Amino acid sequence: MARGVPPIRVCFVCLGNICRSPTAEGVFLHLLDGEQLEDRVVADSAGTAGYHVGERPDPRTLATARGRGFSLPGVGRQFQAGDFERFDYILAMDRSNHSVLERMAKSEAQRAKLHLFRDFDPASEPGSEVPDPYYGGEDGFENVFDICDAAARGLLRHLREQHDLT
Ligand code: 4NP
Repeated sequence: MARGVPPIRVCFVCLGNICRSPTAEGVFLHLLDGEQLEDRVVADSAGTAGYHVGERPDPRTLATARGRGFSLPGVGRQFQAGDFERFDYILAMDRSNHSVLERMAKSEAQRAKLHLFRDFDPASEPGSEVPDPYYGGEDGFENVFDICDAAARGLLRHLREQHDLT
């Protein structure tokens, strides 16, 4: 860890943890890597539901990532109440995920860690969502990737501004 400073801990959350949040995590990790910030910020992802615990991301998610030169780490896991203490930023992909997480938060301090991921993209309307691609076609996965890329860049800018990230 740089100069013994604890890393900023970020968790991306969707419903199943096999499409949107692993994409957000992968895009964000790629940005961190490109800016030599991988020691300063750590990222994880989770789902509000337990349907896909232990599974690798959806094959369409993996194929889209591969097409863009990324690999996606991790296996599906369900978000736990204790994650509110383990992470500094909890990024919900849509308003439904956000309201599930809001109900899980046990204090104002925990609620303050919760954000809609796209709210970090200055080009998107406040309250915008990352649309669920699970029941749609390949285009939806490409779209999720583009949306996550813009929001991840905004999130990183925010972290640079709010924390001493040099
Ligand atoms: P995700 O997409 O929340 O972006 O991972 C989904 C994955 C699985 C299901 C729904 C959405 N499902 O109903 O199994």
